[in-house]
Amino acid sequence: MYLEFLVWFLLPWKSVASQVEDFGFTYNGFRGVNMSLDGLAQITDNGLLMLENTSLQQVGYAFYPYPLHSMNSSTSDALSISTTFVFVLWKSTKYGGPAMGFVIAPSKEFPDALPANYMGIFNTTNIGDSSNHVIAIELDVLQNREFNDIDGNHVGLNINDLKSVQSTSASYFSDQENQHVHLSLNSGQPLQLWVEYSGAEKQLNVTLAPINVPKPTIPLLSLKIDLSLFIVDPMFVGLSSATYTLPVSHYVLGWSFKMNGEARELTISQLPNLPHHKTPKTRPGKLFIVAFSVIVASLGLISIFFIIQFIVKRKNKFAEVFEDWELDYGPRRFKYKDLYITTKGFKEKELLGAGGFGRVYRGVFPTTKTEVAVKRVSHNSRQGEREFIAEIITNGKLRHWSIVPLLGYCRRKEELLLVYDFMPNRSLDKALFDQTKPKMMLSWCQRFRIIRSVAAALLYLHEGWE
Ligand SMILES: *[C@@H]1O[C@H](CO)[C@@H](O)[C@H](O)[C@H]1NC(C)=O
Ligand SMILES: *[C@@H]1O[C@H](CO)[C@@H](O)[C@H](O)[C@H]1NC(C)=O
Repeated sequence: MYLEFLVWFLLPWKSVASQVEDFGFTYNGFRGVNMSLDGLAQITDNGLLMLENTSLQQVGYAFYPYPLHSMNSSTSDALSISTTFVFVLWKSTKYGGPAMGFVIAPSKEFPDALPANYMGIFNTTNIGDSSNHVIAIELDVLQNREFNDIDGNHVGLNINDLKSVQSTSASYFSDQENQHVHLSLNSGQPLQLWVEYSGAEKQLNVTLAPINVPKPTIPLLSLKIDLSLFIVDPMFVGLSSATYTLPVSHYVLGWSFKMNGEARELTISQLPNLPHHKTPKTRPGKLFIVAFSVIVASLGLISIFFIIQFIVKRKNKFAEVFEDWELDYGPRRFKYKDLYITTKGFKEKELLGAGGFGRVYRGVFPTTKTEVAVKRVSHNSRQGEREFIAEIITNGKLRHWSIVPLLGYCRRKEELLLVYDFMPNRSLDKALFDQTKPKMMLSWCQRFRIIRSVAAALLYLHEGWE
């Protein structure tokens, strides 16, 4: 349940009030639409619902603002839900995620929920709890073994939990070719999802297709389930999105919803355009050459000055080393100069700690005010260049809520630097053993959670990641 685009849907269950009985809406684009937005979610000028556009661990929510009552009526047999939306999961590196989903929940706010593989709707203590009353259709682009994910590209039904009730690899049934066709959820192409539930038949169908293909006759997920067991009054419906520390964008182009009827189809031609993104397949090398020649052409003589400056600069203190493997590989490479500035020139005052591996400094990026921890691997350390590269490559691929994410790195001839998320409360051993401060008393509940998190991270390191 890793990279997922979750749309959470709150469904009122009773069918008492007649205006609720056949309640519905259809948004071909979201310009002027009243939505409850939270986290990073926003509606752009051209009416695109942008759930997230970030390279950090974040969440984004867009909920229908009003509660839906009476979904839980005694005549729940009568309840039916039909919804469809067009979404785009875009990534700028090889890996994306984590996830997006359609959500039905008793609240449109999730203040304690975690990003990344918790999909912005659960946290470590409430997963699996039947009092959540949360129903979600997840679009998950990363395999998380802890939650029994089948692969890194699946659609699943989740009830109160990150372990899916049922899930299946993303594909659609092509009526033309009479066969299932594989789909990649985060290819950056617009895809349409339909979720249909019939209370009379206790049948849930979930169907996926590219937007240029009519709705397939055979659903992707089709199962017998009584959703009325999980519904309270009222419920909210919405879309939720969660990210890891990878550059991704999650968009929704249109959304249609209907209770006790069939959601009106979206008009594809009226949907807003997507912003232009550099396509992930463009080789950085080519881009550099294009950019470089443009600069040379337009700046004429000045470019010669730059080249001379570049040669001089190469020898000076900010010189860096590049190799082939770095082009294919994910985490961001920082400029030495930027890291030098963020840590105020690796000032003693910014020192967070030191060990056999080197020294760790606190850094603050002047423009974004983002705090980071910069690990400077010392020259005489046993952790040599090979180990350093191994650490970047493995750590860059690790995505787990209790492992500090690697944001990027930097290399110079004699120096190796790693950039991590800054953990404001320092190391646990400081809290336990620092003589200068009063000892921190941890409750049993906190201790249990710490141990559980450590164990989960160890399990993930040993067995969880690819
Ligand atoms: C998304 O973020 C990128 C990088 O921060 C920015 O260049 C781009 O304009 C953003 N896109 C939108 C639609 O806001
Ligand atoms: C679910 O799909 C099946 C076909 O697999 C269809 O017969 C049934 O009517 C569908 N039910 C709903 C509620 O859409």
